[in-house]
Amino acid sequence: MDTLLESALVLRALVVIGGFTVLFYCCKFTWKCWRGFRVYVLSEYWRADLRAYGQWAVVTGATSGIGKAYAMELASRGLDVVLVSRSEGKLQAVAKEIERMYGRQTRIIQTDFTEGPQIYPRIAEKLQGLEIGILVNNVGMNYAGMLVSFLDVPDPEQRITQVINCNILSVTQMTRLVLPHMAERHKGLIINVSSEAASAPQPLLSLYSATKIFVTYFSRCLNSEYRSQGITVQCVTPFIVSTNMTYNIEVGAFVKSAPAYAHEALNTVGYSSFTSGCILHALQHSALSVFFPEWFRLSSFSVRQMERFARSHQQQIEAMIQESQKKQN
Ligand SMILES: NC(=O)c1ccc[n+]([C@@H]2O[C@H](COP(=O)([O-])OP(=O)(O)OC[C@H]3O[C@@H](n4cnc5c(N)ncnc54)[C@H](OP(=O)(O)O)[C@@H]3O)[C@@H](O)[C@H]2O)c1
Repeated sequence: MDTLLESALVLRALVVIGGFTVLFYCCKFTWKCWRGFRVYVLSEYWRADLRAYGQWAVVTGATSGIGKAYAMELASRGLDVVLVSRSEGKLQAVAKEIERMYGRQTRIIQTDFTEGPQIYPRIAEKLQGLEIGILVNNVGMNYAGMLVSFLDVPDPEQRITQVINCNILSVTQMTRLVLPHMAERHKGLIINVSSEAASAPQPLLSLYSATKIFVTYFSRCLNSEYRSQGITVQCVTPFIVSTNMTYNIEVGAFVKSAPAYAHEALNTVGYSSFTSGCILHALQHSALSVFFPEWFRLSSFSVRQMERFARSHQQQIEAMIQESQKKQN
């Protein structure tokens, strides 16, 4: 009789625990859906007034891809734009396009972020006197045309320094230049472009993935430090966007165009400080974390499969690179 009573009690306890667990996951799922709805759907209708941050926006890597798209979108929302990139000709062309299309003022700063710390005093000089409300730290580079092991990167000695200078140093130094004035004015927005490749360690993209997790952590820490002073530091983690970096891969069900990405990502300002940037990439992020968890991505089996994939698609990738280079010229 006692054993029967004990079993009934255990059963009842298990039912209660099970019930609470189901309730917990239902609440978590509902909360996630609501957050996603707010960040990616409602934000299209109730957008932050970006002009309120200040007159000028500075965008690094602003002559093509995501950076150019951010610059155009910011101009269309009423900001004057400072464009920073490597090629003078492309900078002038984008500046003219912005002035013609949106009637905003532009300034250009030609610089190469791979060169290291010596470029920043000149950039500081060029930014002096401008009321900078928004900084978009977008510039970034991969270190090989495809998936490769660390030692197979072409010219690794030079390339490692270039990637670190471009992907990490640029973000920290540009932030150092604009943040003091934002802090004085108690308002400002810094958008740092990280990557989905940082959501988990990514073998065969090791250096790129590591530089991007730096950007993510730096942004999230800085947001906590400066939020109370009226400054937002937003980190966006795009998945695949059709740009020169992705060999202008066709836009489709899984690939976003740069203008569409920048439009949606800018809508999320004020709704989220750490975001995939658009609903398509948020869904892809969730699916990836379920179907390709971190332990699997890091397994030797997964690395071997990715190497095999890269080898078997080498010719196709080389053809895409050539095609994309032709388009850029
Ligand atoms: N595309 C994607 O799928 C994707 C996904 C995740 C994250 N991201 C990140 O998004 C950001 C933008 O990528 P993207 O795909 O738009 O790249 P992109 O099309 O290759 O554009 C890069 C931009 O940066 C400039 N740039 C490149 N190297 C530079 C350097 N050393 N100094 C100064 N400017 C330089 C380029 O200007 P010039 O042509 O004048 O050199 C160009 O304007 C990067 O941080 C990237 O890591 C991209």
